[in-house]
Amino acid sequence: MLAIRGLRKSFGGRTVLDGFDLTVEAGEFVALLGPNGSGKSTALRCVVGLESPDGGEIEVGGTAAMVFQKIHLVGRRNALDNVCSGALGRLKLRHSLVFPHDVRQEAMACLERVGLADRALDRTARLSGGQQQRVAIARALCQRANVILADEPVSALDPQAAVQVMELLQALANEGMAVVAVLHQPELAHTYAHRIVEMRAGVAA
Ligand SMILES: Nc1ncnc2c1ncn2[C@@H]1O[C@H](COP(=O)(O)OP(=O)(O)O)[C@@H](O)[C@H]1O
Ligand SMILES: [Mg+2]
Repeated sequence: MLAIRGLRKSFGGRTVLDGFDLTVEAGEFVALLGPNGSGKSTALRCVVGLESPDGGEIEVGGTAAMVFQKIHLVGRRNALDNVCSGALGRLKLRHSLVFPHDVRQEAMACLERVGLADRALDRTARLSGGQQQRVAIARALCQRANVILADEPVSALDPQAAVQVMELLQALANEGMAVVAVLHQPELAHTYAHRIVEMRAGVAA
């Protein structure tokens, strides 16, 4: 579950979030639409601590993880290692070349969940864009996230890969996660999301 209440954020005196409210229940998939610059990314970044809000409340039931349009994976490392790195937050070792067996097992299950178990040992740079985005989602699962925030997760993907990622996000919500995705294609939002929230000038329209 994610509850954002009255979120405020300015950059250099310019108000970007002007009291933004959004609640996403466990099991719900919300699509966040709205013009460029309306504050969608800033709102999500506040939830995971990449920006610090000026005001408002953010309540996360569990752990929130973010996936991005520009997929942040280590291309020269294999898919499994990239997914394992999702567990770093709860390991004593902050960086690791060889992950413990139980973490590798859990990461393998996450890769299986996104349909990429057979690519576990491939260098991520060799995977397609859609596969890389699914590895990024598997890493979020390995963070044991209950809330997934996806900022334009399909904007860089071909239509077929986009559909696979949307189906995956929807399935994760149906299994009980709270999922928010910033999307630019309203038809994808209508097809896959449970609810659509339009954002305009820093508030939910
Ligand atoms: N770190 C930052 N410093 C200054 N301005 C920013 C920063 N991040 C975002 N902005 C500005 O905040 C506004 C909203 O940005 P953003 O949240 O990225 O919108 P959206 O994702 O809806 O396109 C934009 O005008 C953007 O230029
Ligand atoms: Mg954005």
